[in-house]
This record gives sequence, C-alpha cells and structure tokens, in this order.
Amino acid sequence: MLRPAFIVPALLCLAGFTAPSPSLSAQATGSVVAQTPPMGWNSWNYFANKVDDKGVRAAADQIVASGMKDAGYVYVNIDDTWEGQRDANGVLHSNDKFPDMKALADYVHSKGLKLGIYSSPGPKTCAGFEGSLGHEEQDAQLYASWGIDYLKYDLCSYIPAVMEKQAPNDPAAQMHLMHDAYVKMANALRTTGRPIVFSLCQYGWDAPWEWAPELGGNLWRTTGDITPRWDRIYAILSQQEGLEAYAGPGHWNDPDMLEVGNGRLTTAENRSHFSMWAMLAAPLLAGNDLTAMTPEVKGILTNRDVIAIDQDTLGKQASRIYSDGEVEVWTRHLSGGALAVAVLNAGARRYSTHPFHLNLSRLGLHGPQQGKDLWAGTNVTLTDGMPLELATHDIFLVRIPAPK
Ligand code: GLA
Repeated sequence: MLRPAFIVPALLCLAGFTAPSPSLSAQATGSVVAQTPPMGWNSWNYFANKVDDKGVRAAADQIVASGMKDAGYVYVNIDDTWEGQRDANGVLHSNDKFPDMKALADYVHSKGLKLGIYSSPGPKTCAGFEGSLGHEEQDAQLYASWGIDYLKYDLCSYIPAVMEKQAPNDPAAQMHLMHDAYVKMANALRTTGRPIVFSLCQYGWDAPWEWAPELGGNLWRTTGDITPRWDRIYAILSQQEGLEAYAGPGHWNDPDMLEVGNGRLTTAENRSHFSMWAMLAAPLLAGNDLTAMTPEVKGILTNRDVIAIDQDTLGKQASRIYSDGEVEVWTRHLSGGALAVAVLNAGARRYSTHPFHLNLSRLGLHGPQQGKDLWAGTNVTLTDGMPLELATHDIFLVRIPAPK
C-alpha cells in the first residue's frame, strides 16, 4: 500500500476554507453519470504496480463470468502505474504493460463494461509516473479518444510541485490552488463531450464534500487510504458520520475502494465492510483479485439485497443513530418509504449471556417490524428490546419495506 509521499502534516490540520475559487468557470448541471454510486473494480488494492493489460482483461472477464456484471458492477478501473512518457507533441503514451489502451477499452466495452483510468494534477502520480500538470486538456482528449469512462484524479505531487512552491506557508492559498486543479480537469473532461465519471482523490482535505459537487465531481475521497485491516476500515467508517447530507444522485462521498477478499479479513469483517459501504451509499469498487475469489467472497460481493441498499435511487446515505459500547446502530432511508437497519458489532462478541438489545423507539419505530435479514436471506420480525447475539466485527442487516 502506497501512501502519498507528499503529505505535509500541517495541511492535515486545515479546516474551514470553503469559498469557491474565482477560477471556477463551469457549474455542474445535472450530472448524467453516477446517478447511483459507481460499481466496478479497481486494480490498486490488490495488484498495485503489477497491474497490466492482461490483468485488466482478466478482471473484465471475471466480472462477467462471476455474475458481478449482472449484479451491477460496470467500471473496470486501471489505477496508478499505467503511464509511459510524453512524445515531442506532449501526447502521453501508456507504458509497456499496456501496449494499446484503445484496444483495451474496446475489449472492455465489448463485454458491456466501462473502462476507468487514473492521473494526477501534479507532474507525477503517487507512484512516480507521469502526471497531467500542464497537459490537462490534452490528457482529457486522449482519454476520450481511447473511450475512457471514469477518471480518478489523485493529488500527490501537486502538493510540493505547485501548492507548496507557489504558496509557501499559506495553507489557505494552497487550498485554492488545489481547488483550481480539480476545476481545470473537470472543465477539460466536460469539453470532451464524453460522459466521464470524475473521481477526486485528495484524501478529504478541506472538506471536498462542500465544493466538489459544484465543480462536477461525482465522488470524492473523504479520508486517507484504506488497508485490508479491520481497525482501518472501522476508522474510515467512523469518519463518515456527519457527511450524509452531502451524498446524492451524481455526487457521492467515497470512503475508498473495497478490501473485501483482501488480506486476512474474516468473513464477518468482509460482510460488515461491504454492508456498511452499502449503507453509506459508497462507490462499490471491488479491490480483490477476481480470478482467485473464494465462493464466500463472491457471495458477499454479489449479494443483491445488499447491493440494492447501496444503489437505492433515493441516494440517501445512512446515519449512525446510537451506540451501546462497541455496538452501533445505523439506519438508511430508502425509496418507497423503506428503511435499512444495520447493527454493527465493532468490538468483542456479544453472547446470549449479555446480548445486545435493539431499541426500536430510538430508531423512530413503533411496535414489531416485518423485514428481511439480508445476510440470512430470511424474513425476520424486529421487536423492541429483542436480544441480538453478534460475533465480533459482524453485522445484522435488515430491510424493512414498510416501517411503522
Ligand atoms: C494514493 C491513492 C490510492 C492509489 C495510490 C496509487 O495513495 O489514495 O488510492 O491510487 O495513490 O499510487
């Protein structure tokens, strides 16, 4: 896992700058993409710098063969390390790992899927490859000519090369420069005329949820990088509280790509991670090796009921309603008046000796509720004070079609 090598701790302390930059030249007018959170796969979490043309084709093949495409996964996203050199005209070429990007896009499209790519507003990407600084329009046109459908734009070297250089010791001015960089690429993408999902990756600095939607950002990272460890996943989850007001059709909070099936996450952890990202209306970008998925991981990633929570057309992100020690209860309002309830045990086991007791009135519910347990796949009746036994890091996820 690479973290941006350029993070300056002082910048992390900044908050409060929200004024739109004067260089904002176009407003988002009804995004046609990302009306529900983007679903697909991204190369970084598992393959990192080992991603290549063959691996991306294999991922596309597996999205179809595994049933993920039928379940809603569409984007096949190449992350960092595809970039080669610029020629004399400034045109960027892919490196040896990607002999023909247009042919790759055609292949992915032939499967009924879409292709995503990655760049940085700086001179270099986080992994030290060629970035887009000074070539924004040219790169956007290149992506469009290849048939790219999604761009993740990662701040990285823009911090030392532009922000710190042009505005030393002036954090507010640095944030303006960051904002300008995202406006520039948003406009360049718009000028291509091709619908391209625009994903901001700047680690949640300066509250992007307050300014990214108006420049045309379809999603914005809210935190630093995820890792396949429960404590990191839970820390990111906790940082989403309070951001629910900013999510909606065309513009989503991005708590980072999925780690389901990676590292040593347990079944319960994979299930809870996936469930909570669905509750958060987060992009569902699988980050595992799809060619070597266990049936269990495949089952989690393709649980249609859970995906339906994520993709609910109302686009309302869940809120944490209350917690009792390390057990917390989140709800998400769904279209048609339905409600999703997640009871997450972020701590140690709750046995029958001291189970968790669900308090329905705190959720605004009155009396017994008929629902579906989305992991057991069975009907369930929720009653006030009902005891729930929860394994460590496991989740109880219920959809109530007609809450009372
Ligand atoms: C940053 C991003 C990651 C990934 C890497 C690639 O760390 O946050 O998601 O894109 O760069 O270098």
